[in-house]
Formats: sequence, C-alpha cells, structure tokens
Amino acid sequence: MNTVLLKGKPVSENIYNNLINRINSLKSVGITPQLAAILIGDDPASQVYVRNKSRAFEKLNCKSQVFKLGVESSESAILDLINNLNSDDNIHGILVQLPLPKHLNSKTILHSVSPNKDVDGFHPSNLGLLLEGNPFFIPCTPQGVIEILKYYNIEVSGMHAVIVGRSNIVGKPMFALLAQKFEIGNATVTICHTGTKDLEAYTIQADIIIAAAGVPEMIKGNMIKKGVNIVDVGINRLDDNSEKGYKIVGDVDTDSVMGIAKSVTPVPGGVGPMTITMLLKNTVKSAEKFRQLTIARLNN
Ligand code: GUN
Repeated sequence: MNTVLLKGKPVSENIYNNLINRINSLKSVGITPQLAAILIGDDPASQVYVRNKSRAFEKLNCKSQVFKLGVESSESAILDLINNLNSDDNIHGILVQLPLPKHLNSKTILHSVSPNKDVDGFHPSNLGLLLEGNPFFIPCTPQGVIEILKYYNIEVSGMHAVIVGRSNIVGKPMFALLAQKFEIGNATVTICHTGTKDLEAYTIQADIIIAAAGVPEMIKGNMIKKGVNIVDVGINRLDDNSEKGYKIVGDVDTDSVMGIAKSVTPVPGGVGPMTITMLLKNTVKSAEKFRQLTIARLNN
C-alpha cells in the first residue's frame, strides 16, 4: 500500500484564504483581531511556539502582543495581567502558553481567562459547551485535526477512532469532537492512556489513530491495521548529533508504518501548522462576536 503523507500546509492555506475576507471586513470597521500571548519562564520550545504564533498573526495583518514574565512570577501578578487583558476591548484573544512553571496552579490561571477571550478553548465553560455539542471556542490542536480529516476526505462517521493520550489539550476534546454528530464526527471512539493494559490490542483495531501521548515514536507498524489513517499530534525533541543538537519526531514511528497505513501526517509539517491556524481562526471569531455585541449595544 502506498502510504499518503497528509501535509498540514495546504489545509492551513485554504483556511487562511477564507479568513482574509473576514479580517478585511473587521478592519473596515476599525477592528483588528488581536491576541495577547502570555509566556511565563524560559522554556525554549514555548518561546518558539509563541514566536511562530505572533508571526502568523502579523502575516495576516492581525496583531499579537507577547507578555513575557519571569519564571519566578507570582500567581497574583499573572492574575492581575489577565484581569487587565479581560477588560481591554482591543484584545480579542488571550493565550497562556503551557506548560507553566511548577509553582503555578494552571487551573487557577486558565480559569481566570474570560471565556469570551479564551481562544485556546481551555476554560471549563468552553469545554462544557463542546461536551454539550454546542461549542464556541474549540481547542486549537483537536480542531486542526478535524480540519485535516475534512480536507483529505477521510471517512470518520461509523469508523473506529482510537485516541492515544487523554490530555485536556488534545485527547479529551478530541474525544468530544470525534464521538459527537458534528459535520466530521459520529465515530466509535476508544481513548487509550497510561492505564491501558494492552495498547496494541486497541490500535490494531483502529480505522483512525490519533496519536497524542507525547511519547516519541511509540506507534509502530506492527501495532496497526492495514489501511488505517493516522494523525500524529506528537512534537518531541530527541537529542542527536546535528548542529541543533536535537531533531523533532512525532508519536508515530513513521518509517515503520509506511506501506501499511493508508495515510499519516508528517512531523514536522502535519498537525503543527494547523494549531496556529486554528488560533487565528478563533481570534477572528472572537473579534466578530465583539463587533456584533458592540453593534447591539449601540442599537439599544
Ligand atoms: N502548549 C502546548 N500546546 C498548547 C496550546 O495549544 N496552547 C497553549 N496555550 N499552550 C500549549
């Protein structure tokens, strides 16, 4: 079987092209979608992600402000900043880059972001709406996975999807998206995690695998069924002898699934670019809601 590589770039370009008109329409009434990204500490991967997010916003004539805080920042200083951003009408999206330094309670911090500006979709109100089947902000990475499945016409309804990983960022919202009767969804979903006794017993049955465990190259060719479609969400740094000193690999051992899987997303260049695209889409959506509310207020 010829395994197809499902690249993220054409999918994200297609979405960007659709967003341009929406951004221009907002700009014509004086609204520029703007993200506030909060980066706490000096995690090198987080710095790269935040820089890439800002670049993508600027490329589409949107704004992105980065708030860099020291690793020792107190919870109250962060909550004050978030409060100010919550009430700033020029800010439409607030993102707190994860992971946070260990002394900070991520729940307290993520819950303090206004659900109306929670473009990451991590606030319990937004997660609850998603679980109810009535989402507003959908977490960016799982939303990006859905866009890839849609763009490449991968059949989901009635299929058995196996998600490996139960994080709040990917695994849990991915379950909510794939299991419900959305445009892309209606699958039978199994969610595997560190408590799963025999992972292979599940992955071998899957029509679709979403690998989101954060374990380098854990999904191997001998664990999958012929013709499976695989989405690799992993971004893992493995040390090597290259100039950079590391290489990026996914949660799938791509070489070993070639010829068995029907398709697989590459790492890098698969799901990665989609996360940023979805962040931009959510921020535009938030700015549009702000416009509607402003018009409604003026009419009253
Ligand atoms: N860290 C890893 N993925 C994400 C994400 O999607 N959003 C935020 N804020 N932090 C992350």
